[in-house]
Amino acid sequence: MSQELIIALSKGRILDETLPLFEQAGIYPLEDVRKSRKLIFDTNIENVKLIIIRAVDVPTYVELGAADMGVAGKDVLLEHGAKGVYEPLDLKIAKCRLMTAGMKNQARPQGRIRVATKFVNVAKRYYAEQGIQVDLIKLYGGMELAPIMDLADEIVDIVDTGNTLKANGLEAREHIDANISTRLVVSQGAMKMKHRLIQPIIDQLAAAVDAADNAAE
Ligand code: ATP
Ligand code: PRP
Repeated sequence: MSQELIIALSKGRILDETLPLFEQAGIYPLEDVRKSRKLIFDTNIENVKLIIIRAVDVPTYVELGAADMGVAGKDVLLEHGAKGVYEPLDLKIAKCRLMTAGMKNQARPQGRIRVATKFVNVAKRYYAEQGIQVDLIKLYGGMELAPIMDLADEIVDIVDTGNTLKANGLEAREHIDANISTRLVVSQGAMKMKHRLIQPIIDQLAAAVDAADNAAE
């Protein structure tokens, strides 16, 4: 019996850029994933299936081996920890930065500060490294609102163009990680047990990333 391979893709912003890379690498779903309510999809390759889930859940599926491979933002991987996964390839899409930010022209208060973010583990590590004591406030989106409403003194969030910060009267402060992009992850177990299936996919995706990179230059 042939081995089955499950690939977990993040829905949302990065799916539209991920699917063409996989197609270029020779794997595509047999139906339009955006028009379906299904969560698991057959592909043109009989033993390869795609699951399409929330970005934050991708490392969990891959780490626990329920999916063999996955695609997720480096920010999501840093926040999750993703200890039991390999990260063999940078897909070089959805490039952005993880930063601290606060109200424009307003200095960070002395002493303990309130930090709102969905990246609480990343923030905890970062401020501890800086020797700054923080009270973390977990939010699930729209972090820029927190300093405006005096819910927090600072936020930790993704910055790309900087337009969201600017539109809300905030300024970026420090880089936590300037090289956030979308990564391919592989479960350690699958890398061992399904290497013959997985390695060609990594190679084909790497070629697709290079081709996209060259076309963009
Ligand atoms: P969900 O809607 O399930 O909470 P999410 O908000 O975590 O998902 P998306 O907004 O779909 O995720 O973003 C997916 C990934 O794209 C992020 O993990 C990050 O790596 C990257 N990203 C997020 N915002 C931007 C942006 N403004 N510009 C470029 N890349 C971004
Ligand atoms: C992301 C991020 C910032 C914004 C940054 O938000 O959380 O708010 O993009 O992009 P910019 O620097 O180009 O303005 P998203 O649109 O995913 O919404 P969210 O805040 O609900 O996560």
